[in-house]
Amino acid sequence: MTRKIIIDTDPGQDDAVAILLALASPELEVLGITCVAGNVPLALTSLNARKVCELAGRPDVKVFAGCEAPLMRPLVTAEHVHGKTGLDGVELPAPQMPLQQAHAVDFLIETLRSEPAGSVTLCPLGPLTNIALALRKAPDIAGRVQEIVLMGGAYFEVGNITPAAEFNIYVDPEAADIVFRSGISITLMPLDLTHKALVTAGRVAAFRALGNRVGEVVAGWTDFFERFDKAKYGSEGAPLHDPTVIGWLLAPGLYSGRHINVEIETRSDLTRGMTVADWWGVTARAPNATFMGEIDAEGFFALLTERLARL
Ligand code: RIB
Ligand code: CA
Repeated sequence: MTRKIIIDTDPGQDDAVAILLALASPELEVLGITCVAGNVPLALTSLNARKVCELAGRPDVKVFAGCEAPLMRPLVTAEHVHGKTGLDGVELPAPQMPLQQAHAVDFLIETLRSEPAGSVTLCPLGPLTNIALALRKAPDIAGRVQEIVLMGGAYFEVGNITPAAEFNIYVDPEAADIVFRSGISITLMPLDLTHKALVTAGRVAAFRALGNRVGEVVAGWTDFFERFDKAKYGSEGAPLHDPTVIGWLLAPGLYSGRHINVEIETRSDLTRGMTVADWWGVTARAPNATFMGEIDAEGFFALLTERLARL
């Protein structure tokens, strides 16, 4: 029984690896890829998503452009991490495959209304603008989403774009607030987890040793992507954030976490975008998300590498 998913994304090298992992995994049926502004502007994220689909040999995948800015704030991008193109590190050919005409938000609504209720999982890998707008435009879809598995947030690990906030939540905190209050089952991969999935030199070498174009490209992206995080954290490799979302769909046993209350700071300028996670249950606020804190990194990279070998 395959799981139907929609990937909402702002490629970004780590998003790109997540898309490759999903397309290499027969357990998953990617109904579509919806793009959002985040790491780089929408024109680039929607171009990059198509470059990645063609790299995977899947020009048939439906790619949609969504929101080009957060619900209520100016866009904040992360070229300092991902480079000007958003996929720096490797030169990929301009895509031949078209962008779908429909807006990503309309695709999300129409797909959730036409697929059987509870049969589609949403996998947001960037700011939550598209998801929030779909929920606002069509509140009825909240009851039709199987679950949301997203990369975003941080608690013990604190923020990466500000001392308090992780980038995806920081860019559009109002959108995140709508999603976390939606009542939909949410599993999140915060920095607390993704900072344990570091692309060490040995893991990059394993990508390169695959001997296929995908392995070479992923190694090239990683070499570029990790320069920023290694310098900042002094770590032995960069965290490969977004693929941990797809990894959880494939091998949840590699992960552990806690079902707790998570609320989003939207008012304070100092801490906007912070995911206030009640890990110790010190409030009476109802649990609304499974906050994943641990990952078996060796198992995750073995799975990722084995799947990339198939492309
Ligand atoms: O904070 C990490 C997240 O921000 C990842 O999804 C990365 O792609 C960027 O979008
Ligand atoms: Ca991302």
